[in-house]
Amino acid sequence: MDKFVIQGGRPLRGTVTVSGAKNASLALMPATLLAPGRFMLRNTPKLRDVATMTRLLESMGLALEQKDHTLFVDSSHIANQEAPYEHVKKMRASIYVLGPLIARFGRARVSLPGGCAWGPRPVNLHLEGLRKLGAQIDLESGYIVAKAARLAGARILFDISSVGATGNVLMAAVLAKGTTLIENAAMEPEITSLAEFLVSMGAKIDGIGTAHLEIEGVDDLHAADATTIPDRIEAGTFMIAAAMGGKGSNVRIAGCNPKHLGALVVKLDDAGATVRTGSDYVEVDGQEEIRPVNAATAIYPGFPTDLQAQWIAFMARANGTSTVTDTIYFDRFMHVPELNRLGANISVKENIATVVGVPGLRGAKVMSTDLRASASLILAGLAAEGRTEVLRVYHLDRGYESIEKKLQALGASITRERGEEF
Ligand code: UD1
Repeated sequence: MDKFVIQGGRPLRGTVTVSGAKNASLALMPATLLAPGRFMLRNTPKLRDVATMTRLLESMGLALEQKDHTLFVDSSHIANQEAPYEHVKKMRASIYVLGPLIARFGRARVSLPGGCAWGPRPVNLHLEGLRKLGAQIDLESGYIVAKAARLAGARILFDISSVGATGNVLMAAVLAKGTTLIENAAMEPEITSLAEFLVSMGAKIDGIGTAHLEIEGVDDLHAADATTIPDRIEAGTFMIAAAMGGKGSNVRIAGCNPKHLGALVVKLDDAGATVRTGSDYVEVDGQEEIRPVNAATAIYPGFPTDLQAQWIAFMARANGTSTVTDTIYFDRFMHVPELNRLGANISVKENIATVVGVPGLRGAKVMSTDLRASASLILAGLAAEGRTEVLRVYHLDRGYESIEKKLQALGASITRERGEEF
């Protein structure tokens, strides 16, 4: 298993270019199940999760090839409608194949995703929504077994705003007979990009980008191309890294969409960082003094839960106490004990982390537990005095393309080495 070795305390300077959004790709790729033909998905990031989705779609008979950042998908031949446990256990987003498969083929057999390192992540809303569209869904030996003649439009209200459930039901509704209303739909940019892709495939969707989606089902869709939107979480991670880099740090985060990063820009500003935004870039200067700023995660356009761990790492060096609340995932605090090993002073009660800022962090060996936790440990390691080893970085490879190369180009001392086994 690989590890990262970091010599902290260096300012970050230069330009880093953001990759395509993991969570957008993981929705666009299964959408290709909805129509036979050849698709071209540009700006697809090279990530382990994209490789996992590729393997899953290949196991169903699709042909996929990634050349640089363009993913070619040929969905002309689909041999089966099954997502086996071996793929789904690696990545929960595999559940995204469920909606398209039932809508187009009237059947699907998809392994139930398990929990996550930080707690349960149910799929009840996905199943309730698909049932409302007329799918008959049974749970058999750990599998979701779904059948339908043709789905029929329905009114659906999600009790909780869910990215995955909105995406899944949206992909099913585009081929249903009649009109579907999705109330309290997720408004995350990745859902907007999925909806726009579906429209380019011939779907009829109103209210894109809002919490109220109206879908007029069509009989069939056709293949189309798409360009994956920039990864706002990767961009946000580099923005926080720059702000943490101290005086002398100045980073331009290029190829991003600042409109998707509004909540973070405000919070960084509150913390005393200098942030300049252009049409497709954000520039952040590091600061000597970090002001403590409370943050609470919320659905888009609120502060993203996927930046919660990185924000806690930032606040660990603030000149005062702050609280960071996760209202989306109550147990997503696995990074806290590891950050404390680096000298941070953070305690967690229920879903609230209280971060007592310390003047400096010190390098140590720490363990990655999940994707965003790993990112927070890297940020803390970069800001810490001395040597930090971040073990089990395979979590990072799920969602950050070449993070060490991008950080090296900014002047960071970070190398990938073979780590010890556990
Ligand atoms: C997606 C993102 C993930 C991000 C999350 C929240 C992808 C591939 N992943 O995950 O990076 O952290 O959005 O922004 O896009 N819930 C239920 N029942 C359900 C579904 C969800 O109770 O059937 C709850 C969840 O437990 C959570 C909340 O709804 O508390 C939001 O989760 P959701 O938006 O569904 O997250 P994902 O789509 O899994």
